Amino acid sequence: MVNFLIFGPPGSGKGTQSVRLAEKFNLAHLSTGDMLRAEIAAGTELGKRMSSIMSKGELVPDEVVIEMIAARIDGTKGKDGFLFDGFPRTVDQTVALEKMLNKRKMKIDSMLVLDVDHDELVKRLIGRAELSGRPDDKDPAVIENRIDVYKEKTEPIIEYCRKKGIYKPINGMGSIEDIFVRLSDYMKKFL
Ligand code: AP5
Repeated sequence: MVNFLIFGPPGSGKGTQSVRLAEKFNLAHLSTGDMLRAEIAAGTELGKRMSSIMSKGELVPDEVVIEMIAARIDGTKGKDGFLFDGFPRTVDQTVALEKMLNKRKMKIDSMLVLDVDHDELVKRLIGRAELSGRPDDKDPAVIENRIDVYKEKTEPIIEYCRKKGIYKPINGMGSIEDIFVRLSDYMKKFL
């Protein structure tokens, strides 16, 4: 099993690229954002509690997403590895993920970080707002808050992973196809 983190600020293309990469390399695509939105859509108690946090662009509590991921890791069969999208988002989540994987004789093999200019992030998210119906895409102030939260709480994971020798920056500017080729060319060395 080979395990990747796909990493980057909101709008950097993590979700778009993950779907294609998971298919190409037979990876299980685990997106905590998608899991949380599914809880909201299903009207569960958890979804109701998380919805207002997400619509402000804040992070939900670590224990909520750690539990979701643990359940998915154990429930996955027939894949060649995992592609974690939007998880981990704090150093504590990263440590929890490492423990989960180590317990199952696995590790994080590589962290792929999509580098995208601030203005391009905002442009992509505002562009998506109409189609996605996501409350966190609608308000430019919430978009800016999501980017600030990323810088403050999520970006420190880069330094943590750099020290472990698994950090790989990828140019996230350009067409979806060009970025897919950049990511695939790097990932295929592991598979
Ligand atoms: P999450 O769902 O993870 O959202 P996000 O990180 O804000 O990321 P996005 O989905 O907005 O962007 P993306 O990088 O996936 O880009 P995408 O491919 O969609 O999290 C949402 C919320 O859930 C969080 O704010 C938090 O509240 C909560 N949450 C989730 N995980 C959590 C965790 N682990 N801990 C705590 N809280 C958590 O692309 C964006 C748009 O750009 C699309 O329209 C796409 O078509 C377009 N696009 C993509 N690539 C290109 C390109 N190359 N050129 C032009 N357009 C492009």
